[in-house]
Amino acid sequence: MPDTITIIDDRTGKQVTVPITDNVFPASAVRELDPSLFIYDPAFMQTAACQSAITYLDGEAGILRYRGYPIEQLAEQSTYLEVAYLLLNGELPNATQLDQWKQDVTKHTFIHENMRKRFVDGFHYDAHPMGMLVSSIAALGTFYNDAKHIDDRGSRDKQILRLIAKMPTLAAMCYRFSAGLPFVYPDNNLSFPANFLNMMWKIGSYEVDPRLERAMDVLFILHADHEQNCGTTAMRVVGSSQADPYSAAASAASALYGPLHGGANEAVVRMLTEIGSMDEVPAFLNDVKSGKGHRLMGFGHRVYKNFDPRATIIKKTAEDVFEVTGRNPLLDIALKLEEVALSDDYFISRKLYPNVDFYSGLIYQALGFPVAMFTVLFAIPRTAGWLAHWQELLADKDQKISRPRQWYTGTGVRDYVPMTSR
Ligand code: CMC
Repeated sequence: MPDTITIIDDRTGKQVTVPITDNVFPASAVRELDPSLFIYDPAFMQTAACQSAITYLDGEAGILRYRGYPIEQLAEQSTYLEVAYLLLNGELPNATQLDQWKQDVTKHTFIHENMRKRFVDGFHYDAHPMGMLVSSIAALGTFYNDAKHIDDRGSRDKQILRLIAKMPTLAAMCYRFSAGLPFVYPDNNLSFPANFLNMMWKIGSYEVDPRLERAMDVLFILHADHEQNCGTTAMRVVGSSQADPYSAAASAASALYGPLHGGANEAVVRMLTEIGSMDEVPAFLNDVKSGKGHRLMGFGHRVYKNFDPRATIIKKTAEDVFEVTGRNPLLDIALKLEEVALSDDYFISRKLYPNVDFYSGLIYQALGFPVAMFTVLFAIPRTAGWLAHWQELLADKDQKISRPRQWYTGTGVRDYVPMTSR
């Protein structure tokens, strides 16, 4: 069988044959056929917008790999900083490289005092931490004028270090502001996750439980990248205009904020709290199915149509965390929801399974994080993924400024009507 596809324009009889490689064929075939012809593909359901060598995802088989390494192995054996290095550099670091990378990141954990004193202090007392984080990422860029030099490898590397290192500091700062607590400076003697937990929770003496430190690191690993999701696409689209990486990362974080994306874990906990008891589960699911109620948050995925491998790992991490913190009472409702939904034809026929957000919120809650911080916790590690894609985009000779076309459905030309005649 030939690995080609032939497209025939029935209006003219003209045809174009192009190769299919890895199940992808170039849209330039359509351009060749007729430059004024466009493909209507809302939400990019059938569009591969770039070539990428970072993350492999097979939704039917429930496979997720970073640079070829299965997520299960990374979650079991690696650390977030090692994974960040892997995503950005393509290979796992050796001991010397990892040591250097950790030192480099650690050197950049502090933020300019004005960020906190003048910028963050200006937020309204009840500002949502994710809204604060989005604006803080963009504001951070104003402290580094060299960030604009995206063609300079040295400058790019510096901004990458700064963003990865400062995200936990910004995140904890946003939380402490909301809680009215004094800011805790980074402690560069601690690991990446332990430093974050310390900045979050330190009041007087505080020691990070190593089991919770590890759980945090696993959650960071699981969220580090997920190929061309909404946030990463925002990063690439804004990055394609050659904006600095802080502006691009702020737009990626804005996309992540939405309840259909990174905001889903927050929505899951709110949903479970609203359901209130296991007895209410069937009635709640009936409302979901009839379309009367909300969607079943934490279920379904654009790509995973079998299971989300991250959800399986998270369920196990939840058990480890609950051993330390005690069981989250919402867990029973979540387990019941999962059990009933997975045996219901509505969910089976639509291939709707728990996604990463179904259980992550319960862990975050058990760790003491307020619901409003959940998406912030997602944004910290996803920064490595955003930056890996940004780097890849800048090196990709096929890329230009992102500029999709439209299918115009508005009115045709008409004459301006003066106010007196309307
Ligand atoms: N609950 C109930 N029905 C659902 C759900 C759900 N969670 N998700 C999809 N459906 C139904 C939907 O109504 C549609 O039914 P029908 O064919 O009868 O109209 C069918 O399933 C297909 O849904 P879709 O909206 O076309 O699917 P999509 O690929 O556009 O949406 C999704 C993917 C993740 C946005 C969606 O499943 C959803 O809204 N889930 C809940 C929110 C959520 O958990 N988001 C986190 C995603 S994972 C983390 C991340 O990547 O950010």
